[in-house]
Parts: sequence; structure tokens; C-alpha cells
Amino acid sequence: MSKIELSFICILTLIWGSWFYRKYVKTFFGTKKRLSWLAQQQQNKKIRSVLVILEKLYQNTNSHRTAKLAKIRRGITEDSFLYGEVDFLTLIALLTYCQPTEHDVFYDLGSGAGKAVFSAALCFPIRKSIGIELMPELVSLAKNILAEYQKTGHAKNNKCEIQFEQADILQRPFSDATIIFINATAFKGQLWKNIEDRLYALPIGARVILTTHQLSSSYFKLIYSGTEVMSWGMNSAFVFEKIK
Ligand SMILES: C[S@@+](CC[C@H](N)C(=O)[O-])C[C@H]1O[C@@H](n2cnc3c(N)ncnc32)[C@H](O)[C@@H]1O
Repeated sequence: MSKIELSFICILTLIWGSWFYRKYVKTFFGTKKRLSWLAQQQQNKKIRSVLVILEKLYQNTNSHRTAKLAKIRRGITEDSFLYGEVDFLTLIALLTYCQPTEHDVFYDLGSGAGKAVFSAALCFPIRKSIGIELMPELVSLAKNILAEYQKTGHAKNNKCEIQFEQADILQRPFSDATIIFINATAFKGQLWKNIEDRLYALPIGARVILTTHQLSSSYFKLIYSGTEVMSWGMNSAFVFEKIK
């Protein structure tokens, strides 16, 4: 083997190795961290039972594929429509930092297949859980799952109102929101600036859960920051509370 061939193989191994480390090894330890967090929670059993319900509801769906096909069919190429999901336990942990109560109204802005909306509604005693999503195929998927969920015994005992709407997060008012989640990694440049401006108009006390982006410390207190599990690997995540 020549020196050039050997260096080529070394470079490929380095690139592949670092991708493998980020995608699988770090995610393995991130999941382990959240599983040991779960073991310490009083609501441990309830959270596990919600996970079983959600796995059953979504078992015949493939949200990543639905999003990919919808993008191709509609000729969408913008990065802001890159599809990815927050891990169930990650979201539950981030929501726990928000200490949700029966007065809270949760919004997922860019809700995709709706898993975060269900996770919040089924694990916490909140009043409403609302998903806003622009891609019609993903909204239909979420609404179909909601129809299935409403036939279950769990839905009959859960007071939280669950709603999915097809709308643009830059247009749809969310002044009743008290907890907002945005899986915002793919929201960049002017799009992110416009979303951020809307967050600064939230009432004092509102909590905001974000991936990748942070908010000004003059208006928001940082409650939690860490690296968390997402469907594409590990990503930074933050929980803020509006203070001014
Ligand atoms: C990264 S996915 C997050 C899905 C979900 N929140 C989760 O974490 O599991 C972002 C979603 O935002 C949607 N989206 C992008 N731009 C949007 C806009 N302007 N209004 C509403 N939804 C939008 C995309 O279609 C995509 O489903």
C-alpha cells in the first residue's frame, strides 16, 4: 500500500470515527444519563407508561419519511424544514425544569408529527397542549394520531386539551402560551431573529425550551443548559424563564 493510500484510509477512518462517536457513543451516554434521571423521579412509573402509550400510537408511522416525502413533493429545499425530533425523555426532563401546573398552556412551535405535544399532555397536569406546524402532511399525521388517542381509556381520564393546527409560527398568535418548546436547530438567520422577537413579547413567567439558540439574559433567566438526546444525535438545549 502506498503512502497516499494509507493517508487516505486514515483520513476516512478519522472522519467516520468522529461521526460514529458523535452520533452513537455520545447519544448512548446521553440516554444513560436521562434513564438514571428517570429512575430518580417520583413520576417514574407514569412516565414509563406514557412512553408505552406513545410507542403504540406511533408504531405504524414514520414521521421522518413523511416529512422527507412531503418536502420532495412540494419542492421545499429550505433548511428550516429539515426534520428531526426531540427524544421523549429529553423533553420530559426539560419540561420538568419548567414545573408545569394545571394553569399552563404548552406550545410546540414547529410540532412535526406531534410527539412533544402528546408527551407534555400525557405526563404533566397542563391545561392545553398545542402543536403548530406548517407542513400539511405532518399536521394530518398528528391529527390522525390524536383521533386514535381519543379512542383510548387514557384520553377519557386526561383533562388536557390537545390541538394541532396548520399555521406558520411567524403568523400564528401564541399570547396564551406559558410554556413554549422550539426544536430550533434548523431555524437560522432572519427566520430565527423573527421568531426570537416574538418570544420577547411573552408575558413574565413564561418558560421557553430551545435547542441550539439562547435568549438575552436581560429578559430571560437561564434555568437549565445541557447537551441532550435528539433523533440526530446530541444537541445543546436550554430552558429559560421570562423575567422582564
Ligand atoms: C426539527 S422539526 C421539530 C419537530 C418536533 N417539534 C420535535 O422536536 O419532535 C421542526 C419542524 O418545524 C416545521 N416548520 C418549519 N418552519 C415552520 C414554520 N414557519 N411554521 C411552522 N412550522 C414550521 C418543520 O416542518 C418541522 O416539522
